Amino acid sequence: KCPPLEACFNLMDFESAAQTALSPEAWAYYSSGSDDEISLRDNRAAFQRIWLRPRVMVNVLNVDISTHILGHPASLPLYISATALGRLGHPDGEIALTRGAATTAIPQMLPTLASCSLKEMTDARADGQVQFYQLYVAQDRDHTARLIRAAEDRGCKGLFITVDAPQLGRREKDMRMKFIEEAPKEQDDSTAGRNEGAARAISSFIHPGLAWEDIPWFRSITRMPIILKGIQCGEDAVKAAHAGVDGIVLSNHGGRQMDTAPSGIEALAESVAALSAAGVPPGQMELYMDGGVRRGSDIFKALALGATAVGIGRPLLYAMSAYGSDGVVRAIRILQDELIMTMRLMGTPTVQDIQPGHVNARMVSVH
Ligand code: FNR
Repeated sequence: KCPPLEACFNLMDFESAAQTALSPEAWAYYSSGSDDEISLRDNRAAFQRIWLRPRVMVNVLNVDISTHILGHPASLPLYISATALGRLGHPDGEIALTRGAATTAIPQMLPTLASCSLKEMTDARADGQVQFYQLYVAQDRDHTARLIRAAEDRGCKGLFITVDAPQLGRREKDMRMKFIEEAPKEQDDSTAGRNEGAARAISSFIHPGLAWEDIPWFRSITRMPIILKGIQCGEDAVKAAHAGVDGIVLSNHGGRQMDTAPSGIEALAESVAALSAAGVPPGQMELYMDGGVRRGSDIFKALALGATAVGIGRPLLYAMSAYGSDGVVRAIRILQDELIMTMRLMGTPTVQDIQPGHVNARMVSVH
């Protein structure tokens, strides 16, 4: 049985609670990384290689962790990243995340392959709550266009196009479970079949032909800002800037795609250096990262290295699975408390005060 919610003091506690609460199939799908899970492990390890450089004697009586993400207010530099199949973990599925995000005032990215329909997820939105849409580009262009228009019509404020998954990574833990009972629900008119196993349904949906030349097409059908999710090196960050997108997410998809791809935090450091070398003005494109964010100090490190905010996946799936939306709220509150403490001990009263000089990133490889 799960420990009481009050016994969860950090994000790792939710992981062990979820392992107790989840079916073996759901645990395998949520927790797995690809191949040898080297990138999955390094998402955590990379943060631990970065040391902080605290500044003292700064008035930190009042610490303000709030910020803006794509121009929308957020109570801290954090958003919920898209994770497929929420109902494997909890009957409320993605809606439990929507409620948790509303209570804590952070944006939520809705997955194309959610268990809940787009209508259910957007109807669950509170007044003023911000949702983005994560897009898997389907083989069928008209279908993809309909998904994008539906997201925009239903009030989503940003289009995060997943670019690191032209084929699904091999997640062996998941494969050993043979198949997962619950396939994604039809997304309005999704081609992902209800009765196929999750991995097969997802694979058949994704189009491996997506390329840089397609960016103007996306621009032609939506007014939402366009963000590429899953950039993994400086060269591609520069290409994204030249393609004129509004933002990128440095991410290895939670270690579930190309194993031994760099962690998001390292790809962020490399990308900031590459963008600067290429003469891209800072601020032309917003930078985000995800993968392995588990502590307020991790968020601080990402901001110091140039991110506007960070995304989080598994910890909130685990919190939701074990405790529903109350768990999601507690997990986010823990990160808020940790970030306030970090900023106080670092001598940075606002997020604007966080600078590269607050970290020693020597141990992070820059290509
Ligand atoms: C994901 N992720 C993901 N990303 C995406 O673009 N579309 C998707 O459908 C999914 N689905 C998904 C399912 C599960 C179970 C996980 C764990 C992850 C990746 C996700 O958006 C994010 O990049 C990572 O989860 C971030 O790493 P952490 O926070 O899980 O370490």
